[in-house]
Parts: sequence; structure tokens; C-alpha cells
Amino acid sequence: MSIARQAATLPLPPGRTGLPWIGETLSFLLDPDFATKRRQEHGAIFRTHIIGRPTVVMSGAAANKFILSTHFDKFSWRDGWPDNFKELLGASLFLQEGVEHQRNRRLLMPAFHGKALTNYVSTMNEITDRYLAKWSQTGNLTWFPELKNLTFEIASVLLIGSEPGAETIELSRLFTELTNGLFTIPLNWSYTTYGRAVAARDVLLAHIEKVVLERQQAPTQDALGLLVQSQDEEGNRLSVAELKVQALLLLFAGHETTTSLVSSLCLALARHPEILATTRAEQVQIGLDAPITIDSLKQMTYLDRVLREVERMYPPVGGGFRGVTEEFEFNGYRVPKGWQVLYRIPEAHYDAEIYPEPDTFDPDRFAPERYEYKPSDYNFATYGGGSRICIGMAFAQMELKIIAAKLLRHYSWELLPNQNLTLDPIPTLHPRDGLKVKFEKLDMSA
Ligand code: HEM
Repeated sequence: MSIARQAATLPLPPGRTGLPWIGETLSFLLDPDFATKRRQEHGAIFRTHIIGRPTVVMSGAAANKFILSTHFDKFSWRDGWPDNFKELLGASLFLQEGVEHQRNRRLLMPAFHGKALTNYVSTMNEITDRYLAKWSQTGNLTWFPELKNLTFEIASVLLIGSEPGAETIELSRLFTELTNGLFTIPLNWSYTTYGRAVAARDVLLAHIEKVVLERQQAPTQDALGLLVQSQDEEGNRLSVAELKVQALLLLFAGHETTTSLVSSLCLALARHPEILATTRAEQVQIGLDAPITIDSLKQMTYLDRVLREVERMYPPVGGGFRGVTEEFEFNGYRVPKGWQVLYRIPEAHYDAEIYPEPDTFDPDRFAPERYEYKPSDYNFATYGGGSRICIGMAFAQMELKIIAAKLLRHYSWELLPNQNLTLDPIPTLHPRDGLKVKFEKLDMSA
């Protein structure tokens, strides 16, 4: 029997499809443990019906490797995104495939590596200092929305060249309108959520276009300044229309995820004072007033382990959707063309065979002598993996480290009582009550 005939006789994955039309969408959206419970029931692959399509959910390191690497060509990113994303985020990297994707990724890359990152350090330092000083004057904070303002300002200044202050505040408001439209009914009228999102998108794109034209006249060191100059080996460049949508996407992808990780870091350190003390001792050793530079960041090796452990335990993104472009077989089951696949990130991170005692916050599991983290095994997927791994990973990790170092050097925070610290996964992992803390400047004279 041919391999194709053999695959056709295999059963569909186990599972259920729920109610007519809406399937199991509500359980998926409302139950944070939906995927974990089903994995316990059915294993690494199960069938359901969400967001209007038959879907298989696949989890664990082997599934990640299958989708992100070895069988990458059987899946479509574009097909995995709902229509609202296609309309609101335009023809940007998230929605591109094949040669077009490779070309654009190559052209965007220079803004996220090497010298470009070095140039971003001073802006990240300045903006962070300003926010931390402001918070210490406020005292008691609901921290998550404040952290989001901080990461939005860093992203909008560095990625779309906005001016800190009134302009960034207005861009942030427009951006909230845009993101509200991603998960709503697509009725494009001026008074609907979706209509306001489309209007906000247009104002944001007009703003970015103005900056692109300025950067073309006089290039700068921010990401847009680099992107207008970026060209590949054949001399191709991004057009103004392409630059606009790609920059908007970067702003979208680049700040909510980072907010989630900073907030999880702060929560984890508040719950583990002994680890906080070790992390702070490293900063004391480097020098509390030593400038934060690319070189000093490299010396913060214990902080690196703490951040990897936060990324393992609290991945901001739960997974990624793909369209199935070619029928495939996984673990003895058949998945038909036209279905949707969701690969899951957290399950591999909590696999006790890879990470012993996975519920324990243990940064030393990332110490070189233990080396539980083996990226080639796809057992760590906070930033996705394979050739479409997050393009902003180094940017985000540098930003996280700068914010963390500054917090540890000069500030303290304490969880306030009477708050729900449950982490909700959608749209990105976030504390239900917004993380309420008492925030203070440390008195270093004591
Ligand atoms: C802690 C922060 C971040 C996390 C956890 C994160 C996570 C991810 C994940 C999981 C993916 C792959 C999704 C999939 O396979 O379906 C991804 C892709 C992507 N991320 Fe991030 N991200 C972060 C920060 C950023 C930043 C700062 C930027 C840009 C400034 C960015 C831009 C992108 C882009 C453009 C892609 C698509 C790449 C491609 O298709 O080639 N991300 N990210």
C-alpha cells in the first residue's frame, strides 16, 4: 500500500467537536486549562472545533519540532490567522509565506540584531529610568497597565520613531482601539468596535508614513531609520507601503508580550525573596551605578538564568495557529488538509522528563552544568522556533534585562494583600487583578 493510501486509512485524532457552529470556542477562550485537561485525557494530539474550524491541538517538544521545523512545509501561517488580523495588520510578516516572507524577514532583520541593538540601549535606559522614578513617587500601583505604558513607549519610540510624551500617549490610545478590533465581530461602521479599529489603523499608518518619509530624507538609528535603508543582496528595498504595515506589526508584536514577561518576573521575584537577593547581589557586584551597556548586560549571568526560568514557566504566548495545507500523520493519527492546527508552548515547558520538578521556580536549571534547556529539541518555545522564530527575541530579552537590572539596583516591590494573582492566558498571560504592589526606592545609605 502506498504511504498516501496508508495515511488515508488512519483514524482522526481523538476528541470532540462541541456544539454546532461555535464548537468548543467558549471553553477554549474561558477555561485556562482547556488544553492541559484534554492533553491529560487524549495525549499529545487531540481534535476539537474552535473559531469556526475543525482544529487539532498538538503539544509537547516532539509536536513543536514537527510543526516548527521538520514538517514546516505542511502548514500555512496566513491561513492560521483570523480575518480581522488580515484586515487590521495588513500584508505584514505574520501573514506572509514562502519566498515573500523570506525576503521581507531578511530586510527587517538588520533592525533587530548586532549594532542596531547596541544603539537602542540608551533609549531603553532613559525611558525606564523615567518610569521607575515616577512609580516610586506614586507608591501603591496596579503595575501591569503601567508596565504596558513603559514597554509601549520603548517600542513606539524605537520602532516607529514617536516622540515621548503627548504623541506616544495618543498613539497608545489609537493602538488600544486597533487591538480591540482583533477579537470582535467585523462590522465596519463608525460606531462599532471594529469600525473604530479600522479608523485607528488608518491614523496609525498615516503617522508611520510621515515618519518613513522623514527617515528617507534623513536616516536615523531607530528601527524605521534602519529599515528605510535596508536592502538585500539583489538591491531590493521595502516600499513605503510595505514599511508602514511591517512597522505597525512590529509595534503590535513587540510590547504586550514583553509586558507579560516583565510582570511575571516581578511576581516571581516577589514570591522568591532568596532568588531576588541573589539576583540583586549580582547587580551589587557589577556596581549599582555602573552604566548599563551591552558589555555590562553580558556580565549579568545569574539574571540570565532567572529570565530563562521566567520564560519557561510563564510564556506570554500560549501557542500558534496554522492552516493545514497538506494532509499529514502524527502519532498514528491523520489530520486532513483544510483543518487548523494549534501548537502549544507551555506543555513542553512543564514536561517533568525534560525539566524535573517543573512547578518549582529554579533558575539554576539553566546553569551550564545542568543544561536542561536544549533549544534544538524544541523543549523551549517561548519565542516559537525554526525559521520563523520571533524576530524580536533579542530586542525583547535585552529590554527585559535592562528593566530588571534597574529595578533590582534601586527599587523594591511588595505584593499588596487582597488581590487575585491568577494568570489569565488570553490575549497574553497577565495577572487577573493587574498585579498590585507597594513600590519604593531603596534606601542604599542604610
Ligand atoms: C517577550 C517578548 C516576546 C515574545 C514572548 C514573543 C513571542 C513570539 C512567538 C511565540 C512567535 C511565533 C508565533 C508562532 O509560531 O505562531 C513570535 C513571532 C514574531 N514576533 Fe515575537 N515575541 C516577543 C517580542 C517581540 C518583539 C519585541 C518583536 C518586534 C519588535 C516581535 C516580533 C515578532 C514577529 C515579527 C514575529 C513573526 C516572525 C516571522 O513570522 O518570521 N516579537 N513572537
